[in-house]
Amino acid sequence: MDKIIIRGGRRLSGTVPVSGAKNAALTLLPCALLTDEPLTLRNLPRLADIDSFQHLLNQFGVSTSIAGARPEDFGRVMTLQATRLTSTVAPYDLVRKMRASILVLGPMLARAGEATVSLPGGCAIGNRPIDLHLKALEAFGAVIELAAGYVRAHAPDGGLPGGVYTFPVVSVGATENALMAAVLATGTSTLHNAAREPEIVDLCNLLVAMGAQIEGIGTSQLVIHGVPRLHGATYMVMPDRIEAGSYACAAAITGGDVTLAGARIEDMAATIQALTEAGVHVEQTRGGLLVAANGPLRPVTLSTAPFPGFATDMQAQLMAMLCMAKGSSVLTETIFENRYMHVPELNRMGANIDAKGRTAIVHGVERIAGADVMATDLRASMSLIIAGLAAEGETRVHRVYHLDRGYERLEEKLVLLGGDVERIGGD
Ligand code: UD1
Repeated sequence: MDKIIIRGGRRLSGTVPVSGAKNAALTLLPCALLTDEPLTLRNLPRLADIDSFQHLLNQFGVSTSIAGARPEDFGRVMTLQATRLTSTVAPYDLVRKMRASILVLGPMLARAGEATVSLPGGCAIGNRPIDLHLKALEAFGAVIELAAGYVRAHAPDGGLPGGVYTFPVVSVGATENALMAAVLATGTSTLHNAAREPEIVDLCNLLVAMGAQIEGIGTSQLVIHGVPRLHGATYMVMPDRIEAGSYACAAAITGGDVTLAGARIEDMAATIQALTEAGVHVEQTRGGLLVAANGPLRPVTLSTAPFPGFATDMQAQLMAMLCMAKGSSVLTETIFENRYMHVPELNRMGANIDAKGRTAIVHGVERIAGADVMATDLRASMSLIIAGLAAEGETRVHRVYHLDRGYERLEEKLVLLGGDVERIGGD
């Protein structure tokens, strides 16, 4: 297995291109199931999760082709076409590898009137149930049974009638599944307390480009008037606000200055606020955002929350940065239980973090030191990279496959900024 070696202490400086957003791409791809016409997605990041999703769609008979990508380019253009669906079953092996596979349930049900999807099972960052996905679909008229580890859903003859559903807690994935199911319903559907993440707006924009009728885009109340059919579209995946925020933390911890080319300020207000509170200078430039260290880092107190709050997907990276702040920061994780698995690893590098339940107190230290470290999820792995960039000596990050799920050509981008980072094969 590959590992990434970082020799810390280099100041990051320069411009880094922000890739297409993984979490947006993973909800735009299943929209191909909603039409027999071609869907072309531009700016798709080159990531293991995207390859897995493509493979899953191929299993249903969706044809996919990739065009115009030179190896040195970031991003790809993919055209998908679901002329005829040959299967409506998402098997355990594929769903287990990638939880986002559950996002085929809504569009498959809408298009084919039935879908059988393996239950995703446990996950390293908490239990992550799918009950809200199922309840929303039931409210829209789907009949759902659970049997032998699978969700089997079907629509009454003539398709889903649509309905009204109020989410008891905000769920990104359940909002996405419900939206994709509702666009082809025979009637109107309403979602209350829907997620408002920029990736949901990206999904709505694509659906509208395909002919869907959605009101309230960007708000927590979405009204979807079902249409009989959707058509093809060409669409550009939004920039990855979490990748951009990760490089911002990396720049700040090394005392550097980095321009995040393509980052959108409106998606990143909570991250920018946290960086500003930490004393980091952030400025909108013509093509993105400039992030520059500005004296010693200051401590920050915040809780994760659904958008527009501070994203749980940025918690580990911000925590790594705050390890070297002057003073104690308090971070509270409100979205997922068990999302502090990076804490013991950061502490092994000399950080001083106390995590109890949902709260972590990060006592800033003057120095951290390189070590062999290993992480159990994507963002936790990135926090170790960020710490490694500021650590004295060498950090070896194991289980790089987590990073390959969500960071396009990480080591190349860090080298571009002057980091001393390399990937080596074997273990
Ligand atoms: C998505 C993102 C993930 C991010 C998360 C929160 C993708 C592919 N993944 O995950 O990176 O960390 O949003 O911003 O876009 N819940 C239930 N029942 C459900 C669904 C969710 O109780 O049926 C709970 C979860 O356990 C969690 C909370 O709702 O406590 C939010 O989860 P949700 O927004 O659904 O996360 P995902 O869509 O899985």
